[in-house]
Amino acid sequence: MNFGIIGCGNMGEVILKGVLEEKLTLPWQVWASDVRRERLNYIKNTYGVNVTNNNEEVVEKSSLILLSIKPQEMHSVLAEVKSAWQEDKVAVSIAAGVKIARILQQLGEAKVIRVMPNLCIKVKQGMSAIAFSNKVRKEEKEAVRRIFSSVGEVVEVEETAMDAVTAISGSGPAYVFYFLEALVEAGEHLGFSHSLAYLLAFKTLQGAVELLKEGDDPADLRRRVTSKGGTTERALNYLKEKEFKAIIRSAVEKAYLRSRELSES
Ligand SMILES: NC(=O)c1ccc[n+]([C@@H]2O[C@H](COP(=O)([O-])OP(=O)(O)OC[C@H]3O[C@@H](n4cnc5c(N)ncnc54)[C@H](OP(=O)(O)O)[C@@H]3O)[C@@H](O)[C@H]2O)c1
Repeated sequence: MNFGIIGCGNMGEVILKGVLEEKLTLPWQVWASDVRRERLNYIKNTYGVNVTNNNEEVVEKSSLILLSIKPQEMHSVLAEVKSAWQEDKVAVSIAAGVKIARILQQLGEAKVIRVMPNLCIKVKQGMSAIAFSNKVRKEEKEAVRRIFSSVGEVVEVEETAMDAVTAISGSGPAYVFYFLEALVEAGEHLGFSHSLAYLLAFKTLQGAVELLKEGDDPADLRRRVTSKGGTTERALNYLKEKEFKAIIRSAVEKAYLRSRELSES
């Protein structure tokens, strides 16, 4: 597979690393571009792939092209590469809120795959949702599933579900970080130093995730650690009284609506 990457920032580099580590392609078959020369030097020296600051060249040399630029760069990048684009090439966009139709509008006859990964692909624990345009062939779908499986889990969705995906797994890591911050601050409030409060809270989060990995339902696990009249029950009752679940639901809904707004603008 001749693999192209336009935009070698955070996400582009992580995906490149995953693809090479899983040997889905070889360094000499990869063409990567970016606007910053020092970034390209770093990518070349670290991964041994071909680099260029010419996006058109990436398209000419590759059959499957990852578009890992910011959403606001998409229009100008597509305009730049349009003349080099051929029908058999596959565009894989991870740009948040950029619809398949918008890419097709600029590229004309093209195969487009839209993916919404999340930050956790950095540690190969990502959650990526994939949607395909009409003309994408079975083996091309499989190639893209393998690319994103190299950095975590993959699920196929209808494109209309992308805003909801963004609200849950796309923005989700930040909700978890925020919960951890709150638990740490609560520990500090009870008199612990920041580092001790962080250790107590972080190991609790990590241990709880490990327990969940055994497959139990979170509600069952919660009930099992909540003894009648105990400390956990007192805290959870307070969370229920304050409608913790309703707050989370509304927050996720806000993210969903914002994602819709962005993809329609
Ligand atoms: N980060 C996440 O958790 C996450 C999750 C899901 C989806 N995404 C999507 O992933 C995409 C990339 O995000 P990121 O966090 O990796 O951003 P990033 O680190 O800014 O990466 C984008 C890279 O593209 C370069 N670039 C800018 N204009 C270019 C052009 N015309 N041609 C070639 N390269 C160009 C940027 O250079 P400069 O820095 O010099 O501009 C930068 O190195 C975004 O569309 C975002 O919506 C991100």
